[in-house]
This record gives sequence, structure tokens and C-alpha cells, in this order.
Amino acid sequence: MLQRPRRNRANAVIRSMVEETRLSVQDMLFPLFVMKGKQQKTEIKSMPGIYRYTNDLLLKEIEECVQLGIKSFALFPQVPESKKDSLATESYQSESLYLQSIHEISTRFPEISLLTDVAMDPYSSDGHDGVVRDGQILNDETLPILAKMAIAQAQAGSRLIGPSDMMDGRVGYLRESLDEAGFSNVGIMSYTAKYASAFYGPFRDALESAPKFGDKKTYQMNPANRREALIESELDEAEGADFLMVKPALAYLDIISLLRENSHLPIAAYNVSGEYAMIKAAAQHGWLDGEKAMLECLLSIKRAGAQVILTYFAKEFAQLKLS
Ligand code: PBG
Repeated sequence: MLQRPRRNRANAVIRSMVEETRLSVQDMLFPLFVMKGKQQKTEIKSMPGIYRYTNDLLLKEIEECVQLGIKSFALFPQVPESKKDSLATESYQSESLYLQSIHEISTRFPEISLLTDVAMDPYSSDGHDGVVRDGQILNDETLPILAKMAIAQAQAGSRLIGPSDMMDGRVGYLRESLDEAGFSNVGIMSYTAKYASAFYGPFRDALESAPKFGDKKTYQMNPANRREALIESELDEAEGADFLMVKPALAYLDIISLLRENSHLPIAAYNVSGEYAMIKAAAQHGWLDGEKAMLECLLSIKRAGAQVILTYFAKEFAQLKLS
């Protein structure tokens, strides 16, 4: 035998020398949930260790994370049922919980990157990402609402918006609307290849945002499709996206790698709520080593080609690194 691959695995030093992928806290973007009220946090049952915070406690949580080296965050609001309507009007009221929270976070932490969410579902009485009429999710009627939301978020201080809705043409529509409103410096991290997935369940628990009827298959992608992700990525790129995102991450590593090879834009991947919940649940039962499983999964996402990893594990990972 001339080649013996085991020689490069013989001890920790040599294994480290030939290691191709390394995780860093700088790869991570930490999604957070804000709710109304004061001095409260509630754990999301299906996401052990992840909480909804009232804004005051959220600011403290961000401060703690910043000290751990986390620099990027995403924010999602839990909107009370009484504020929801069919046109998601709450989403662009300047005194809304979400916009106030964006304003406070960006004023208090100007050095961080905060991805703010553009989609109707947290505010929609139908629980869908678009305007509903006669059981259909309307595309073009949804775009102006998304634009109002994006501009309101930019006015509140957002420098990076994340359209997570999957309406056709929304990246270009948002780009032009932001530019016209004077926000050409506000970036777009597009949820480019977002699949109709069972792994969003715990997130919908967190926001109480599950669809009131039907499913999201007429706008989110079919998990069977790979080539279609290229159509979405070509459109987003042409329409002015600054990042392309694949979501979920673990069941879609091939899609991450496909976009990485076919675009020069930075690729993000969303290690979603259900992927987090699976590992947590198994670890709580003692069925696997939660920490090792977390590290292996995060590593696989980076190895597949993601430069940014949106993950509920971000804080846990950051705490590990310091210890
Ligand atoms: C909807 C949205 C979803 C997530 C982020 N934005 C779920 C959905 O499409 O219903 C899921 C994130 C997660 O599961 O962690 N705009």
C-alpha cells in the first residue's frame, strides 16, 4: 500500500493540520423572539433553551451574546391574535412592538448586524405569508405590503432585511422600493430556496403563526426539487439580493452546495427550529451526545458551503468556545 489515509489521522495535531473546515462564532447568526410586556421571558416548549423575551430582557440577552462574540442576530415578533388582520397592517405601524424593538436594538448596539423579517405570517389572521382571497395566496397584491414593511423596518433602523415569504418578484420589488425611499444601503438577505418543510413546526409554536387553513406549498418549494433552486437563485441575484439563503439546512445540504457552486454571492443557511428540536429532544432522552451532535451538524452546514449559519445553537456554541 503506497497510500494509507490513516497516517493523516494518527494524532490530534496531524488531524488538526489537515482539518478542512473550522467553525467560528463569526459564522453564526442567532435568531431571537420578542414578545410584548415587561421583565418576562417564556421558554418555547418545543425548543428547550430558547425563549421569547420582552424587549427589556431581550436587550440584556443581546448584550450577553455580544460579550460571547456573537455579532449577528435575526428578530421575529410574537404578535397577539387581536393585532392580526388579513392585510397584516400591524406590520408597518411605527409604534408596533417589532419596529420599536428594532429601533432600540439598533440604537443600543450599532455595531451588530440585525436581520429583520419581512413576511406577513406573524401578523396575518390567515397565518399565511401572502394576502389570501378565496383560499388563494395572491402574489402581486402581497408585494406592496412587503415593501411597506421593509421601509418601516429601515426607518426603524434595520440595515438588513430578510424576505422570508417566497412571493415571486419580491426581491426586486423590495430593492426598488427601498432605493426609492432613500435606503439603498439597506441589504437584502433573501430566503432564496425556502422549502415547504415539516421542520418549521416549533417556530410556528413560538410565534403562534401556523396557517389557519391549508399549507404553504403554493409558494414554498417542493422538497423534491433541486434544479428549481437554481431558478430561484438566478432570479434573486438578478433582482439585487446581497445574500442567498437555503432553508432548512440539514435536509438540504446538497442545495447549499449547489448554490455555492453556482453563485458568487455569499450563501446563508437556516438551521431551523425543528432541526434544533430534534437534537435537543434526543439529547434530553440521553439518546445521543447533544453537544457533539450540534457541532457535527453545524460543521456539515459550513462544509456544504454556507458562509452564514442562522442557528438557535449560536449562543450554546459561543459558550463552548470560551470555556
Ligand atoms: C415564515 C417563517 C418561517 C420560519 C421563518 N420565517 C416558517 C414558515 O414558513 O412557516 C421558520 C424558521 C424556523 O423554523 O426556525 N415567514
